[in-house]
Amino acid sequence: MLRVLLASRNVGKLREFAALLPGFTLVPWPAEAPELPETGAFFQDNALQKAEGARAWWLAHGTESVDAVLADDSGLCVDALWGGPGVLSARFAQDLSSYAERNQRLLDLLPEGAARTARFVCVLAWVPLGGTAGERCTVSGAVEGSLALAHRGSQGFGYDPIFLPEGADQTFGELAAASKHTLSHRARACAALRAKLGA
Ligand code: IMP
Repeated sequence: MLRVLLASRNVGKLREFAALLPGFTLVPWPAEAPELPETGAFFQDNALQKAEGARAWWLAHGTESVDAVLADDSGLCVDALWGGPGVLSARFAQDLSSYAERNQRLLDLLPEGAARTARFVCVLAWVPLGGTAGERCTVSGAVEGSLALAHRGSQGFGYDPIFLPEGADQTFGELAAASKHTLSHRARACAALRAKLGA
């Protein structure tokens, strides 16, 4: 079984990867490791930057052997906000202490009568450290949907309570994790990664 270093401290993402990549042994990013910079303009740039940063740090400081590094850059892109918060999703409204408040601020930014269409995007970067872990690659997944009128539900993390996937009448915050995993951006990116690796 491939041992994969996850270049993230986001507990919501970690929980999802554990469910979405059952055939891999996931090694968490250590508490003593630095924050990984993400200064790119695109999800793909940031995913690669995090994976390469994690690989370099692990080669110098890692305490166990891993076969590859996996980094996720993802976010919510709202059409009426010119695709924002997009790559800045993790940094949006950081002056507010809870996601409930950040979600409300995002909803309040929508001009009255504006289209509510939005999508979640996830880009994964895979960087092997050993010879058995395939090729360095990026894969992506997206799920179309719209912003709910108010936050609903407490499942998931981040913007889940305000995102209604296309065709559903429940937000990601209301759907059980197993249902989110049938259609989410991260699930689709993980499926693409597994296909690429033949895993
Ligand atoms: P980053 O990939 O570290 O830049 O952070 C992505 C941010 O986008 C997260 O901190 C969340 O705010 C948001 N996000 C990404 N994926 C999801 C998701 O599946 N549900 C809810 N929010 C998400």
